[in-house]
Amino acid sequence: ALQGLSTLQSKPLCSLEKFGKIISLQIGWKNVVLLNGLEAVKEALVQRSEDFADRPPFSLFDHMGIMMARYGHGWKELRRFTLSTLRNFGLGKKSLDQRVTEEAGCLCSAFSHPFNPRFLINSAVGNVMCSLTFGNRFEYNDEKFQRMLHLIEEAFNIGAGIMSQVILDMMPWLLYIPGPHHNVFQPYTDSFDILREIVKEHKETRDPGFTRDFIDAFLEEIEKAKMDPESTFSEDNLIFTVFDMFGAATETTTVTLLMQFGRVRASSHPAPPIDNVSIFPGRVHEEIDKVIGRDRSPDIEDQVNLPYTNAVIYETQRYCDVVFAGVPRTTYRDTEVQGFFIPKGTIILTVLSSVLKDETVWEKPHEFYPEHFLDADGQFVKREAFLPFSAGRRMCLGEQLARKELFLFFTTLLQHFTFHIPEDQPRPRDDGYYVLIHSPDSYELCASPR
Ligand code: HEM
Repeated sequence: ALQGLSTLQSKPLCSLEKFGKIISLQIGWKNVVLLNGLEAVKEALVQRSEDFADRPPFSLFDHMGIMMARYGHGWKELRRFTLSTLRNFGLGKKSLDQRVTEEAGCLCSAFSHPFNPRFLINSAVGNVMCSLTFGNRFEYNDEKFQRMLHLIEEAFNIGAGIMSQVILDMMPWLLYIPGPHHNVFQPYTDSFDILREIVKEHKETRDPGFTRDFIDAFLEEIEKAKMDPESTFSEDNLIFTVFDMFGAATETTTVTLLMQFGRVRASSHPAPPIDNVSIFPGRVHEEIDKVIGRDRSPDIEDQVNLPYTNAVIYETQRYCDVVFAGVPRTTYRDTEVQGFFIPKGTIILTVLSSVLKDETVWEKPHEFYPEHFLDADGQFVKREAFLPFSAGRRMCLGEQLARKELFLFFTTLLQHFTFHIPEDQPRPRDDGYYVLIHSPDSYELCASPR
C-alpha cells in the first residue's frame, strides 16, 4: 500500500477537493482507509486517539519493541519507560544536548571537499543514538558501526518493501516453505546479534550504582521487575526496543537534515536562488552571527532568538514531508471519522503529507516559504497543521531528540561553513524516492569555511 502510495504522493493526493477527506481502498482482502487533510487526521489522531492507537500485525516478526507493537499494556510500559529515560537528560555524565553538540563538532571536522553528505550525516545521527543507548560514539569509518547502520537501513527498507508489506503479509504460509524469500530475515537477525553482543558487554561491565546509558537503565528495570510475571521488561524486549529506536531515528533524521542542507544550496551564488524551493542562506548566517557569533557552540536555548533559522528548519520539514503517509495504524475498536463508520481492525494511513500541504490551511502549500512560521513582526509561530511527527498516543516518541538534532546540527554547520553544489554536479531534486519515507536523491556538496 505504501509503495503504491508513492506514485500517488505528488500534489493530487493532497488535493482535498479531488479526493475528499476519507478514501477507502481494498488491497487484496484488506480494507485500508486513508485520512486526508488536517480536519480528518486531527479528528482521528487527537479527538479519537485511543480508537486509532493500534498497529497492524507485523508479518515478519511477532516481536514487541515500540514501533510495531500492538496497542496494550506492553506497548504502554515500554513507551512510558523510554520517554522518561530520554527525558532524563542526566543519563551517564553528559546531557542529551551535550551529546548532540559534541557530535555536531565531530561532523564539522569530518567535512572534505566536495563530498556526499549522506554518509557523514547518517554517521553523525547514528552516533547520537549510539551515545544515548550504548554510552559511546564511534569513528565514522569504524567497520562495526558502519555495518550496524547498514543492516538497520536494510532491515528498514525490507520492512517497508513489497515482500514483507504485501507478499508475506497476504501469504504468511510462504514462511513455512524454504526459498529465497527467507533472506528478508537476515538483516534483522544480524542486527539483533550485534545488539545482543553489546548488551552482554554492558551486563559484564555494569556498576549498579551508576546508569551510563539507555541499556543500563533498561537492565535495571529488568532486575526490578524480576518477580512480576506481567512485566514487559526482558532482554529480548531490550534488543527490540533499541533496534526500533535506531530504525525510527536514523533514516528520518538523516533524510530531514539532507533536505535542510539541500535547501541552502545556492550559497555560492551572488543572487538569491530563483526557484521557490531553496533559500538564500545569507539571512540564516546573519542571524547566527548576531545571536551566537563564531566562537561558542550553539545551544538549544538559542532557538528562541533565531526565528528565521527556526522557520527554515520547520518549513523544510513541512515542505519535504519525510514520513509522508505516517506509520500505518489500525482501529482499536469500531469508530467513526467525519461521520463515516470505520470497523475495528481496519488499516489506517494518515496521509501526513496532505496535512503539511493542506490547501485550506497553508498560504503557499506547494512552495518553500519559511514565512509560514513567522508572524508580521518576524517572530516564530507554531502552526496547528505542522504534524511531521504525527499526533495522538502513537505520535513520534523521539520528537524532542529530533528537534534538538535538526537545530543543533544545522546551526553548528552554518556557523562554520557556506555550502554550494559543485559546478559540474546536478542540483538536488526534490521528488527523490519513496520507501516508507521520502528521501532526496543523492547529491554532492562543497563546504567552504567561513
Ligand atoms: C514514530 C516521525 C525521529 C522514535 C514516528 C511516526 C512518525 C515519526 C510520523 C509515526 C507516529 C504515528 O503512528 O502516528 C519522525 C520524524 C523524525 C523522527 C519526522 C525526524 C525528523 C525519531 C527519533 C526517534 C524516533 C530521533 C528516537 C528516539 C520513534 C518511535 C516511534 C516513532 C519509537 C513509534 C511510536 C509508537 O508507536 O508509539 N516517528 N520521527 N523518531 N518514532 Fe519518530
